[in-house]
Amino acid sequence: MPKPFALSTGFAELDAGAALRVRVWDLPTRVFHWALALAVVGQITTGLLGIMEWHFRIGYLVLSLLLFRLLWGFVGGHWSRFASFLHSPATLRAYLRGEAHPDLRVGHTPLGALSVFAMLAFLVAQVATGLVSDDEVSASGPLTRFVSSATVSLASKWHGAIGAWVILALVVLHVVAIVFYVAVRRQHLVRPMVSGDKFLEHEARPSRDGAGARLLALIIFALCAAFAYWISSLRV
Ligand code: HEM
Ligand code: HEM
Repeated sequence: MPKPFALSTGFAELDAGAALRVRVWDLPTRVFHWALALAVVGQITTGLLGIMEWHFRIGYLVLSLLLFRLLWGFVGGHWSRFASFLHSPATLRAYLRGEAHPDLRVGHTPLGALSVFAMLAFLVAQVATGLVSDDEVSASGPLTRFVSSATVSLASKWHGAIGAWVILALVVLHVVAIVFYVAVRRQHLVRPMVSGDKFLEHEARPSRDGAGARLLALIIFALCAAFAYWISSLRV
């Protein structure tokens, strides 16, 4: 007997019934996620309250995290790779009709992937504009002196008046969607983002998450952080 939302949830991620435990989110992706969530809350708060020294510090952390995630999207665990959740409109339509392959529901679903890509894209735009923003009082991004004043003014407008609010809206939508899936559809999405594992009814390829992969992630993150540190040193 199909469950009320079986048409679009498709598979049941059950607490007790599902037999197969599969590593879906590798540790680097999980650490990235929760660090990004805290940092973005920090950025919206410090930005709106004008606590600019911390806004810059946390901003460089967001820059490092995003660079890391972009690279991890190519070399990370299977379900963290962009190729595993970049889908055609036809696949999205099939998913919405409940006709998609069960594998599409293991990592980010085609619908969830849209929100992930939107958040990442607007965050990249936010960091890029932040780097060349100027509040005309005391806070000036580290790269403002390398671009024209027209660019600085456009970037500042985007950064404060548009980008920050779009990000806030996307985050609210993200959290509301997650709460909906957990409370209404009874799919435990948050726990796998903590433990890494999902309980599935069918076999699925696990994400690589051994010591070697974690060491690789650490090295990539260290390089991204070094790059962000260099960018920060360009601020006069
Ligand atoms: C500022 C706050 C947040 C931001 C910017 C954010 C951003 C993201 C991003 C970028 C992803 C994709 C992960 C990846 O593939 O790298 C994601 C996934 C996820 N986030 Fe968040 N997140 C935030 C807050 C939260 C909160 C508060 C929760 C818990 C209620 C949450 C639960 C999840 C879950 C469960 C997933 C996996 C969704 C899936 O299974 O497709 N997030 N988030
Ligand atoms: C997740 C990333 C970020 C978010 C959500 C964010 C958010 C904000 C917000 C809400 C403001 C206040 C705007 C206003 O009151 O008009 C602001 C201002 C500012 N931010 Fe960010 N920011 C982010 C990243 C960055 C980064 C990486 C930098 C530079 C390293 C930066 C540099 C600035 C500067 C210079 C200002 C003052 C200019 C202005 O008011 O337009 N931000 N940001």
